[in-house]
Amino acid sequence: MSDYVAAIDQGTTSTRCMVFDHGGRVVSVDQREHEQIFPRAGWVEHDALEIWENTRAVAAAALGRADLTRNDLAAVGITNQRETALVWDRTTGQPVSHAIVWQDTRTGPICDRLAALGGGADRYRATVGLPLATYFSGPKVRWILDNVDGARERAESGDLVFGTMDTWTLWNMTGGVDGGLHVTDPTNASRTLLMDLDTLQWDEDIAAEMGIPLSMLPEIRSSSEVYGAGRARGPFAGVPIAGILGDQQAATFGQACLAVGEAKNTYGTGNFMLLNTGTTKVQSEHGLLTTVCYKIGEQPTVYALEGSIAVSGSLVQWLRDNLGLISSAAEIEQLAATVEDNGGAYFVPAFSGLYAPYWRADARGAVVGLTRYVNKGHIARAVLEATAYQTREVLEAMNADSGVDLTSLKVDGGMTTNETLMQFQADILGVPVIRPVVSETTALGAAYAAGLAVGFWDSEEEIRTNWAQDRQWDPRMDPQLRDRHYRKWRKAVTRTFDWID
Ligand code: G3P
Repeated sequence: MSDYVAAIDQGTTSTRCMVFDHGGRVVSVDQREHEQIFPRAGWVEHDALEIWENTRAVAAAALGRADLTRNDLAAVGITNQRETALVWDRTTGQPVSHAIVWQDTRTGPICDRLAALGGGADRYRATVGLPLATYFSGPKVRWILDNVDGARERAESGDLVFGTMDTWTLWNMTGGVDGGLHVTDPTNASRTLLMDLDTLQWDEDIAAEMGIPLSMLPEIRSSSEVYGAGRARGPFAGVPIAGILGDQQAATFGQACLAVGEAKNTYGTGNFMLLNTGTTKVQSEHGLLTTVCYKIGEQPTVYALEGSIAVSGSLVQWLRDNLGLISSAAEIEQLAATVEDNGGAYFVPAFSGLYAPYWRADARGAVVGLTRYVNKGHIARAVLEATAYQTREVLEAMNADSGVDLTSLKVDGGMTTNETLMQFQADILGVPVIRPVVSETTALGAAYAAGLAVGFWDSEEEIRTNWAQDRQWDPRMDPQLRDRHYRKWRKAVTRTFDWID
């Protein structure tokens, strides 16, 4: 009897394996961080071989920790940092370079050149739902083909393949050079700038214009179906691999945002708010993305509006690793608690330019409002508040695009354990902020997608029943003070523009 479903969550800073029971409760978890490689300002890379090594290790450890074997698993799901692009040789299994991470800004000139062909940054938006921006994978593949010795020739002769981290993980899990599956799902494909949102197929004209051979692109299958089985001699040998969702879509699924108008906000390396718009593909007029939310087997495609914020949790890491102001991420709360407020300081972390709702590649980070009064406690507060202000900007765009004001916000992810931030978030939004019991909704969503495909869970209704509230923060801030803070923030944002020419 297989009582559990496992999920691999290949995230930006770490890879984890989680095992869930039928009630959606966490039974076991193991996690490993991987190196963040910063070869130059604006460049961010990952070693995909290190990531695959970690994936195997966390899978074995998560099973071992709970005394489970592959026979206890009904299915495995995959979820992943999206947009991070990898090109590898299908015969040797060797990547031709490090993966270029979603936060990397090196493709600015490629995006500019494509935009200059006509239509500007929105050249492909009607088809793919996205603006031309460094965030997305297609231009990263182009960069690799243009800059890695011999890559274009090898790609054109069919030796090289492209994948986001779901595809790399699945390919390796199903055998790698020995018949590994080269497959992705529509949520990941919808982040490449290459997939037609209506047909869920690669758009040949866009791929040609971007200079990417179609033979490199993975097959797009649904988010929930049996793709294949785990490779022999691996921890998941013979177990159906049956779900793929990009991490933000997985969190939306895990949060049971399964009806039109339901939204969640995940606080990870960055922040990502997704609003389920059902089978309607809503084109944003306020700087949001139109993306695939999920496609369960043969069921109609469900779309979402997304507000992506590049830097939230990673700003806390930056404070720890680059400035040494704290020695662990959790310490930021203590440091922030040494002061009453931000002391007038606002920190706009435009490290990768600004994503939603601005899409300004020319922006770079700034701390404004500094006086001699400001101390490290104020900076810590400004760091936490930056996440809350950015979330308000995205929520306002969501409300404007959907025509309906969200009356509460479901949240999840690492930073939601931070009481100071969550209270401030409710204060700055003016609506309650609600966290579920299982805050690991990303892995849970991938497990649900896999479990639905093999009948471990029968329906989306079961997912809804499993969702339970843990904690709610209600707004307490005086509305006038809220407005004053937010005005200052908006002003601070404008100080980051036009930094890169
Ligand atoms: O789009 C980037 C996103 O998928 C990364 O998520 O959780 O690693 O910050 P996270």
